[in-house]
Amino acid sequence: MVSIRTVNLTKVFGDVVAVDHVSLEIRHGEFFTLLGPSGCGKTTFLRTIAGLEMADEGRIYFDDQDITDMPAHLRGTGMVFQNYALWPHMNVFDNIAYGLKIRKVPKEEIRRRVKEVLKLVKLEGMENRTPHQLSGGQQQRVALARALVINPRVLLFDEPLSNLDAKLRVEMRAELRRLQRELGITAIYVTHDQEEAMSISDRIAVMNRGRIMQVGTPKEIYKNPKNEFVAKFIGQGTFILGEVVTYGEELEVRLESGKVVKAVPSHPDVRLEVGDKALIMIRPESFTLEPGKGYNEFEVEVYHISFLGDSQMLQASNEVENFIIEVDPDLEINVGQKLKVYAPPKHTLAVKL
Ligand SMILES: Nc1ncnc2c1ncn2[C@@H]1O[C@H](COP(=O)(O)OP(=O)(O)O)[C@@H](O)[C@H]1O
Ligand SMILES: [Mg+2]
Repeated sequence: MVSIRTVNLTKVFGDVVAVDHVSLEIRHGEFFTLLGPSGCGKTTFLRTIAGLEMADEGRIYFDDQDITDMPAHLRGTGMVFQNYALWPHMNVFDNIAYGLKIRKVPKEEIRRRVKEVLKLVKLEGMENRTPHQLSGGQQQRVALARALVINPRVLLFDEPLSNLDAKLRVEMRAELRRLQRELGITAIYVTHDQEEAMSISDRIAVMNRGRIMQVGTPKEIYKNPKNEFVAKFIGQGTFILGEVVTYGEELEVRLESGKVVKAVPSHPDVRLEVGDKALIMIRPESFTLEPGKGYNEFEVEVYHISFLGDSQMLQASNEVENFIIEVDPDLEINVGQKLKVYAPPKHTLAVKL
């Protein structure tokens, strides 16, 4: 088990800075996710950690060891890709054994270790099948077994579940986590899927255009976004532009409609000044239907209802603003209905722009 540290890690392709001075600390045994939109540099970061790309600037450490210039095969990283990258003409056994053969591990030991990992990923008895005789989920297990068989210090996952259907994806998340926890291997997981990131990770780094926007637990990132990018990329919310009119004991923001709302900074590090533009963000579950506070109330008309089983999501608007509001699934509500909703100040977040 190792910790991983990058310091100003940078990788450039022509005039694209794919990874831009990224400094991260990933703890022993942590399941750490890099989350961001397509093209933001996730794969490049992972490949640089694996040694499949060489850094243009910055350093990488596994514990106290500087591995920045170490060849890939000496780093002890196991990688699982989205497209599995199995050898189509080799059977399951040979696919998994490949990494051991090139490391010149004795035959008997290879047999034993392949057997061991097959059991771990629940593919016992499948040794002789070729990849096309397996389902997508089974192929991904083979890819996982292949990464594990070399006893890696670090597991690297590049969107490994993206090609699976929704139900299997959810099952495999739990299984990946179970395995990683059991084996105690530090893992970096890459995905563009914020729900997946939230459900699988100890901590998440949100990435955009090669840079880290915020690092935190899923809860921190959801409840206390540091900036507009994170606020909008994670989860759902009502967003209203405004300007800070009072800042001190209390924070008040005048919305474009002229209404003034009481709010709190979206993150403890956020500093605002009177006159600053701010984006008000309210999560769907923060609204309540209890009127009569005299502030932070909005009169809205419902124009769409999504029934989700454990809740209902209302899309609603007034003349100037759009809202997304979560309400009790038992509440009788109709499209066209007018509602008065209240957002408590402590859940009315002012995001710095
Ligand atoms: N081998 C390469 N040659 C040139 N540009 C590349 C190469 N690999 C990645 N890029 C560019 O670097 C940026 C980041 O890509 P990538 O790391 O694949 O992002 P992600 O995995 O987040 O989708 C993109 O603009 C991509 O086009
Ligand atoms: Mg990628």
